[in-house]
Amino acid sequence: MKTVTIKDLGQYEGQDVTVKGWVYNTRNIGKIWFLIFRDGTGLLQGVVVKGEATVETFAMEQDLNKEDSVILTGTVRKEPRSVGGYELGIKEIKVVNHVTEEFPISLKEHGADFLMSNRHLWLRSKRQNAIMRVRHQIVKAIRDFFDDNGFTLIDSPIFTSNAVEGTTTLFEVDYYDRSAFLTQSGQLYQEAGATAFGKSYCFGPTFRAEKSKTRRHLTEFWMVEPEMAYVELDENMTWAENLVTSIIQRVLEYCQSELKTLERDISKLEAVVPPFPRITYDEAATILKEKGIDFKYGSDFGAPDETLLSEQFDKPVMIHHWPADIKAFYMKRDEHNDEIALGVDMIASEGYGEIIGGGQREDNIETLINRIRHHDLPMEPLKWYLDLRKYGSVPHSGFGLGLERTVAWICGTKHIRETIPFPRTMTRLEP
Ligand code: 4AD
Ligand code: MG
Repeated sequence: MKTVTIKDLGQYEGQDVTVKGWVYNTRNIGKIWFLIFRDGTGLLQGVVVKGEATVETFAMEQDLNKEDSVILTGTVRKEPRSVGGYELGIKEIKVVNHVTEEFPISLKEHGADFLMSNRHLWLRSKRQNAIMRVRHQIVKAIRDFFDDNGFTLIDSPIFTSNAVEGTTTLFEVDYYDRSAFLTQSGQLYQEAGATAFGKSYCFGPTFRAEKSKTRRHLTEFWMVEPEMAYVELDENMTWAENLVTSIIQRVLEYCQSELKTLERDISKLEAVVPPFPRITYDEAATILKEKGIDFKYGSDFGAPDETLLSEQFDKPVMIHHWPADIKAFYMKRDEHNDEIALGVDMIASEGYGEIIGGGQREDNIETLINRIRHHDLPMEPLKWYLDLRKYGSVPHSGFGLGLERTVAWICGTKHIRETIPFPRTMTRLEP
């Protein structure tokens, strides 16, 4: 008997097949009972009819528990009313492992904390399955985008000796007879990559000892960071816009059923096509003022500010030309105004907040040394980085896109913790 997956069931209409998976639910209506079954690729309705199934199999309904591991054999039939459009006329059920305790997650409502504590089991549920599948497609879309556009993958290290995004969110770890930090961003290494390869990117976990418990912050999150030589701020924004567009296109093409499970308003995603609005920090501040927000010029935008700004547009908005004081040491300044940094943030639509941070980098060695001093950063661990300005310095730019915030936006999930398989936050290290 051929073993198939639920996802591919349609190819086997009329044939007898085997599927391997787990009991989701059972339902009895007398001479017939239904076994709702999952195999990790989808849900399937199995129908057990007296006379069609073996006598032992028909009698099994009473004994099956949620999450029993079972192997089913039966005939694939078209059934438009059934989940997935097909059903299985079950002939035989083989129990591989029997669950003796009640599965902690039932179909009733559970609290977020309870579900998070049972994340290892919660991942089996329909909604979490859909989110993880969308995440998977987004990761593929990101890799394809850079691979198809001439970028070389240059993995940045996770143990580092320097800060990138300020010293307040560093995780310090013992490293033999010294200490090291878990990386906040692979950017500085990509600057070496861009000088070596023209265009490079890294894509991996990054760490921030964020003392914030918001729905947008994780202590461990994934970031993709492209870096490009001979690219200035405007072109950098075009790359960011094209990346995000290509991610959305991919999800719309491959994840329709997941988006349906998540009850996502697809028209909002379909609206995300270039060009995205580009406004300066000053223009953004003016919008907030006009909306009656008590915004202090020179400060960073808070979550409510970002939400309000995003509501002005039906696409992500890019905010550029920032007060240099609130941006990192490596940002290049505007040639006409030394107080302004050539940074760019992309704010997702519908109030999902900042998904991209980046900009043009300082390429002058003297200026960079002064900035490092000004930011009170130790010079020694950045000596290699200064070499990049000593040997073959060019205008260059890049950005980092936070994977989980992007998944949250595209899936329409309010809290970022559902967008990563095993979230790490201030208060959670298990499971
Ligand atoms: O804006 P950030 O801090 O920028 C950088 O790290 C640059 N060095 C990237 C670069 O230019 N190569 O972070 C980039 C993105 C944010 O826009 C956000 O999407 C995400 O990373 N991010 C977080 N996501 C989840 N939890 C956190 N604590 C995050 N901090 C940043
Ligand atoms: Mg940022």
